[in-house]
Amino acid sequence: MSYFITTPIYYVNAEPHLGHAYSSIAADILARHMRQRGEDVFFQTGTDEHGEPTALAAEREGVTPRELADRNSARFRDLMPKINASNDFFIRTSDQQHVAKVQEVMQRVHDNGHVYEGVYEGWYCPRCADFKTESELGPGNTCAIHEIPLERQREENWFFRLSTFQADLERLYEERPGFVVPDFRRNEALAFIRQGLQDVSLSRPNISWGVPLPWDPGQVMYVWFDALLNYYTSLSYAREGEDLTARYWPASLHVLAKDILKFHAVIWPALLMAAGIEVPRRMVIHGFLLMGEKKMSKSLGNVLDPFEVIERFGADALRFYLFREVSFGQDGSIAPSGFEGRYETELANDFGNLASRTLAMVDRYRDGTVPTAEADPEVAGGDDGLAGVAAEVRELLDRVELTQALDAIWRRVRRLNRYVEEARPWDLAKDEGQTERLDGVLYSLIEGLRVVTLLLFPYIPETAGTLLDALGEDERGVPEFGSREGGAAVERIPPLFPKIES
Ligand code: MSP
Repeated sequence: MSYFITTPIYYVNAEPHLGHAYSSIAADILARHMRQRGEDVFFQTGTDEHGEPTALAAEREGVTPRELADRNSARFRDLMPKINASNDFFIRTSDQQHVAKVQEVMQRVHDNGHVYEGVYEGWYCPRCADFKTESELGPGNTCAIHEIPLERQREENWFFRLSTFQADLERLYEERPGFVVPDFRRNEALAFIRQGLQDVSLSRPNISWGVPLPWDPGQVMYVWFDALLNYYTSLSYAREGEDLTARYWPASLHVLAKDILKFHAVIWPALLMAAGIEVPRRMVIHGFLLMGEKKMSKSLGNVLDPFEVIERFGADALRFYLFREVSFGQDGSIAPSGFEGRYETELANDFGNLASRTLAMVDRYRDGTVPTAEADPEVAGGDDGLAGVAAEVRELLDRVELTQALDAIWRRVRRLNRYVEEARPWDLAKDEGQTERLDGVLYSLIEGLRVVTLLLFPYIPETAGTLLDALGEDERGVPEFGSREGGAAVERIPPLFPKIES
């Protein structure tokens, strides 16, 4: 089955921060997990380059929008391998092929009778590139997200007849209860729709950095239409000489945060309906990474630089921390001190030590060869047993519960640690009458380690890969406990998570 997963495309008005890395890592975990399941995955991320956020930032810096876009887009592109993201494509909305495809789709929307000319008057946030309704305003007509004063706008625009899609959208939500997850976000989107939809501006005059409307080139497309369409346009040109649209559309999952819920859960499906294109299967809405009480954001000046964090702890530790510390879907505070704590207690101690000890014991007691034995029911069975973990993780990831799936794996890591303490292989090794028992214990440990490591692979691909090599495991699929026979050669390795210099 094909599985097409996307992240938001990020504004190039500034450099990437950890909040952007977060969405791309979330999508990467799912992409990797789906590849493990043998799905035909296409994973894309990229940059949103047109419109006012970029034009204004370029003006402030005294460069052209294209110069700023080139520079910052490269930073986002470079970020992806740094965070161990395995994206298959990186789209830029300044790509000529994207622009041409956007014009083609929007022309269809026009020809289908879903646009008209009118006058817009209201509040506008240039940082969100969003027209705000009265109910969305912060105190004193400010932007509730960026905490900046809003501008009163009056201009001649083309409009998209969003209001005419109200009934279609309500039906979509009814027929597909899982269209937006988690549920509370679905309810929020549905409430917004039910409250009554207003038509939205589709174009703006007096802006030059953007995609001209094909039927009225004096107007530039409102950046959100250009941006949302990235999910669709990319498939037509991501692979030279090949059109992937039939293979991957409709998208399986859009990953995004709550700040852009309305665009994705309301405007996007309506736009696709207007163009006669199938709507995506599902979207997952996550919360914000907070620093202290506030959303991490460039305009609030409280961002962490992902490049610096990775320099210090490594990409895998960052990935692990973010999905362990912040319950995916909720807002959650992060702090550099928290990285250190989890790095030491969980990655280095719980997991790293389990790996080192297990490999060392198989090396010492069985000459580095995994013994042939039955898995011990002591580790296999029960609520936290290794036997059920793969199915549990699959099921949780099907529901896009990234933190709960990681928790399910971690409970097994801890269970294996308890098992070492209880079974005391070092005592068994001293007693010749216990050879068979020791085989069973070592087999269960190394098999358990193999299973948790394969399940952790989407979360911490680099270290899990190193460990799987040491375990003599070439496969990267979703494992089944007890399915690998004895006989594999394993090797000791240096600590997976060495002490951090402070
Ligand atoms: N360009 C638009 C999105 C267009 S998608 C068709 C945009 N860009 S953005 O650069 O502002 O990125 C917003 C997205 O980045 C959020 O929806 C979220 O996915 C991610 N995040 C940015 N800051 C974040 C946090 N502090 N916490 C979590 N995610 C954050 O909006």
